[in-house]
Amino acid sequence: MKRLFNLAILSLSLLLVASMIPGTIVSAEEEASLLDPNKRLNVAHRGASGHAPEHTIPSYKLGERMNGDYIEIDLQMTKDGVLVAMHDERVDRTTDGTGLVKDYTLEELKKLDAGSWFNEENPEKAKRAYQGLEVPTLEEVIQTFGNDSHYYIETKSPEVYPGMEKELLRVLEKYELTPKYEERGKVLVQSFSKASLLKMHDLAPDMPLVQLISYKTPATITEQELAELSRYTVGIGMSYTKIDQEYVEKVRESGLLIHPYTVNEKEDMKRLLDWGVTGMFTNYPDRLEDVMDDFEDDEDEVEDDDENEEDED
Ligand code: G3P
Ligand code: CA
Repeated sequence: MKRLFNLAILSLSLLLVASMIPGTIVSAEEEASLLDPNKRLNVAHRGASGHAPEHTIPSYKLGERMNGDYIEIDLQMTKDGVLVAMHDERVDRTTDGTGLVKDYTLEELKKLDAGSWFNEENPEKAKRAYQGLEVPTLEEVIQTFGNDSHYYIETKSPEVYPGMEKELLRVLEKYELTPKYEERGKVLVQSFSKASLLKMHDLAPDMPLVQLISYKTPATITEQELAELSRYTVGIGMSYTKIDQEYVEKVRESGLLIHPYTVNEKEDMKRLLDWGVTGMFTNYPDRLEDVMDDFEDDEDEVEDDDENEEDED
């Protein structure tokens, strides 16, 4: 009896120790969600924006068809307070208009052509269907893709749009996309602005957040910074060009997710997976899908070899 008791204590202790090592044991809730650190996420950056005009419905549809795990959406806000999917504060680069989004009402913004610029810049990928595409509102994106899709939403220029976090939360609540209704990780909110994320954290403490970090030089991170980030985020994102294996391992050891952006070449994708990233943003979800398939095949082979070696021993 005493031996059984000791064995039970030993097993519990081993489980406890293992659960403290990132990437090993996760809760059933985490396992069911895309926040499981053992998953590697394919984030369709502005949709499949290497193939179609960024932040348009066709681009997001292509991202889904190419097995992106998340639709990535940058948010700006119109003069009349509507959240729309657009990367830049100005409409100039991705529409036929000029000026700031904040100076357009939704009705005015809807008159702009958000697709033809792509055809002009990418004649080999041009499609007639891209001509005259509208800038979608966040609500239209959610209405199109529904609650089966996952959304990775960035508050852009939050200092220009006071109240954007509250409005974002209102929309997510309306469509029952918050952790109150859905698995945690159905929506991730990201920002370069810590203030914006802290606002979101105050408004919705359960909402998983990702802090984007802009490094000008090769990235380093301290234990103290990681501890502070862990207080309000589930993960961090940064340019893949600024990190190395040591950085990735340090972040993983802290238990945070790490999603570098924007990775478009297969050799970079492969290297980052080797280093242990938990996902990445890409304009080419199809390429990342290929790389991930090969990576998983290689992992399976290594596991089979290990098992065979154990059997031989
Ligand atoms: O959100 C990750 C990545 O998209 C950040 O860069 O400028 O493409 O929004 P940006
Ligand atoms: Ca973004």
